[in-house]
Amino acid sequence: MYHSKIVGLGHHVPDTVITNQYLSNLMETTDEWIVERTGIKERRWMNPAQDTVANMAAKATHMALQRANLKETDIDFIVFATITPDYFFPGSGVLLQRELGLDGKIAALDIRNACSGFIYGLSVADQFIKTGMYKNVLVIGAEIQSTALDISTRGRNTAVIFGDGAGAAILQQSDKPGILSTHLHSDGKFAEELYVKDPGSSRPHAERQPEQILDTTTYKVVMNGNQVFKHATTRFMEVIQEALDTNHLKKEDISLLVPHQANLRISQYIQHKLALRDEQVFNNIQHYGNTTAASIPIAMSEAWSQGRIKENDVLCLAAFGSGFTWASALIRW
Ligand code: UT7
Repeated sequence: MYHSKIVGLGHHVPDTVITNQYLSNLMETTDEWIVERTGIKERRWMNPAQDTVANMAAKATHMALQRANLKETDIDFIVFATITPDYFFPGSGVLLQRELGLDGKIAALDIRNACSGFIYGLSVADQFIKTGMYKNVLVIGAEIQSTALDISTRGRNTAVIFGDGAGAAILQQSDKPGILSTHLHSDGKFAEELYVKDPGSSRPHAERQPEQILDTTTYKVVMNGNQVFKHATTRFMEVIQEALDTNHLKKEDISLLVPHQANLRISQYIQHKLALRDEQVFNNIQHYGNTTAASIPIAMSEAWSQGRIKENDVLCLAAFGSGFTWASALIRW
């Protein structure tokens, strides 16, 4: 029986900083409202002249490879989590493979589980390593959400939240368990509570012809914020407890919790419920907003570079988002 552990973390965010003040010039919102309700002070939005989901992922990968002391050709599988691929198809996994100069050499798998996508990807990579099929698996969470936002007062409950960026983790076969367990859930009843409807396939032919589309609102992110918030707080707690119970650990054993960065109030609620000290929870939503599948690997990469993850630490990852999907992972560093 093989185990897997994370040997390298990296991230990349676009250069363009979008402040709350800037958004307040485009819609009816204020810095005070955004900070109080979400904790977000600024986020990064892509520059179409230079950023793609795949090339941001490549930059995050290079950082992770360097930190792991590995090279591109050591990677033998790519798992790419994104709900905002560069093309409607193919997915961004193959584009990243090309960016890394690994064309035709390794397989690339795409995962569309929104904010839980990175943990789903980690779980898939862990299974492939445990079976002995692969030795070094690259797991990516990368998104460009900004171009699907309704940047007007009508869309202000999502426009102020989402940001762009990419994070990477390299999982490697190991003698001792690094990934202790992963826990994945979904409930499709709530699919339309947070979604982008188009370009969906199940429409009359005419509705999929761009020249005939008069109303493009179905191409924008729609979220029932209150409903998502309510479910998030419940599911985060459940899935963290499930991970602790599976490993016979207690909440006090968590060295660092890295929650999906959805809303600072959600992270603070979980911290309070688990009675964790500030140094046991990592948040960077203040600077990047909610970057969907990228948020956990960006946060992990920053936490690692700030010395917040040390050998033998117990790391807990947890996420909730569109689907609904939710997931957790416990990791012994
Ligand atoms: O990552 C995937 C998971 N996503 C999440 O977990 C997000 C969960 N939801 C949230 O974070 C919050 O629901 C939001 C931040 C989206 C909204 O915060 P809220 O405290 O739930 O506000 P609300 O939706 O209850 O709206 C309260 C008021 C409304 O005005 P009225 O009807 O009371 O007059 C909104 O129209 O706030 C208004 N509002 C805004 N005002 C200023 C909504 N967005 C904004 C805005 N600026 N950006």
